[in-house]
Amino acid sequence: MINDLWYKNAIIYSLSVATFMDSNGDGIGDFVGLMRRLDYLQGLGVTAIWLMPFQVSPQRDDGYDIADYYGVDPRYGTFGDFVEFTHAAKQRGIRVLIDLVVNHTSNEHPWFLDARGDPSSKYRDWYIWSDTRPADANKGMVFPGVQKSTWTYEETAKAWYFHRFYDFQPDLNTANPAVQAEIFKIMGFWIQLGVSGFRMDAVPFVIAKKGADVRRPTEQYAMLREFREFLQWRQGDSIVLGEANVLAKNDMEYFGDAGDRLHMMFNFQVNQHLFYALASADTRPLVKAMEATKPRPVTGQWGMFLRNHDELDLGRLTDAQRRTVFAAFGPDKDMQLYDRGIRRRLAPMLGGDQRRLELAYSLMFTLPGTPVIRYGDEIGMGDDLSLPERTCARTPMQWSNEPHGGFTKSDKPLSPVISGGPYGYEHINAAIQRRHPDSLLNWTERIIRMRKEVPEVGWGDFSVIDTGDRAVLVIRYDWRNNSVLFVHNFHAEPREIAFAVGLTGDNAEHGKLLINLLSEDHSRAGGNGKHQIVIEAYGYRWYRVGGLDYLLRRTEAGGGPAGTGARSG
Ligand code: GLC
Ligand code: CA
Repeated sequence: MINDLWYKNAIIYSLSVATFMDSNGDGIGDFVGLMRRLDYLQGLGVTAIWLMPFQVSPQRDDGYDIADYYGVDPRYGTFGDFVEFTHAAKQRGIRVLIDLVVNHTSNEHPWFLDARGDPSSKYRDWYIWSDTRPADANKGMVFPGVQKSTWTYEETAKAWYFHRFYDFQPDLNTANPAVQAEIFKIMGFWIQLGVSGFRMDAVPFVIAKKGADVRRPTEQYAMLREFREFLQWRQGDSIVLGEANVLAKNDMEYFGDAGDRLHMMFNFQVNQHLFYALASADTRPLVKAMEATKPRPVTGQWGMFLRNHDELDLGRLTDAQRRTVFAAFGPDKDMQLYDRGIRRRLAPMLGGDQRRLELAYSLMFTLPGTPVIRYGDEIGMGDDLSLPERTCARTPMQWSNEPHGGFTKSDKPLSPVISGGPYGYEHINAAIQRRHPDSLLNWTERIIRMRKEVPEVGWGDFSVIDTGDRAVLVIRYDWRNNSVLFVHNFHAEPREIAFAVGLTGDNAEHGKLLINLLSEDHSRAGGNGKHQIVIEAYGYRWYRVGGLDYLLRRTEAGGGPAGTGARSG
């Protein structure tokens, strides 16, 4: 039964239809274009796609301001195209997750227009109003520096409305049973059209108590269970992946002690401390974050990511740690955003150095959870800092060295394709990289294939093995009597480390042999039972912990690749 939990070991790829592939030459990506790229994604090894919002929207926050939850924005295609797409994905064994943005609507949503125009409207209580300006109207902004307040006066309504995000995104009154019923209806609708679940936007705000009199927003966690129950009833294998950048001590409130709330959450704690480790070569805070976020129900899973469509939020680091990451990866004011983050893409942050990109990716694929890739990162795409806020990292996918990177035939793409310089489409594109065996694209494809052969990462328990060197992280996973072990060197210099695998009892012998899954360079423990490994600058190793019986079986089978992955299921 438990093997059915597909999300425990999925390879998730996030993209926006708008910037992926334009099929009809109007400069805007669309579902038909995306469909033509499904074989590319399948070839890469992707097993699930997370789509950013594609519903009808005035597009003032890249679709996170929805004006109709039950419609495909005509710029991207029709319902017919959408269903063809989910079907085509399914044929290739790829699931589709979509964004569920129900903390707020667009201020152009008919519900809001109706609500503001008439105090007796049935939609009035779908939003949060106040007759007077609330005292804390200038507090709690999610986009400080850009967003001025959380309450704005509405002329027609002659009242103030609450908006946790931009002023054109009025918050829905999610405590209202009619709003909750509508959220279920939205989920049920898209499930019916072929999706396998939702990336739920802004979860802590969705479930927070809202209102002019609310001083400290308290979370109504019970709502999460209701979402899950509804989904499970409609379609048993669908999931909710929550965006909740919260303190580790609250994780279990989101997962539910009984595993009855969110199926997945993004691990923002590990994400931020991972960037700190990459910046400082000190893995200790990362290890702490991993240990702090270890508790989760068997059916719960973390989403592991490097960069997403938003800024790299460093708000959970100490001031000193954040300064270190800023200095290393975003020293210019223009690279930073909202007083807490960096808006760049991964490749420019790491100086385009393939060793460091591989290290970062290798970590994302082997930290405890399910990896979530951002489109374009597999070819090392860059950013365009001349674009405002987060849009700098949302430029069109670079497919080839044809004009506009092969993204569109139009001369007016909705957002300029990165051109010229080290990250221009002329050099960085999928077509060129496909032809080079050592390109980041082909490396990513190979590492994904191997990741699928180590299900221990998704299912197993991890332990961090002490090497005495804070620059080197060694993690072991155990699952069903199999173990795998990963070594990562965050340092710009080679390091020599010694460690014992740490298995006991019958398995102790196994720990003496480490089979390298990525090369022929295996490791045998010395007389003291310890492995002595010299690992190059920014190096990484993937090992299967194998005993003598493993070698014997290999010989009996007449050799065969040492990289053979899972030993049993
Ligand atoms: C989430 C999204 C972000 C969006 C915001 C408002 O934080 O990740 O992109 O702007 O919600 O919907
Ligand atoms: Ca188009």
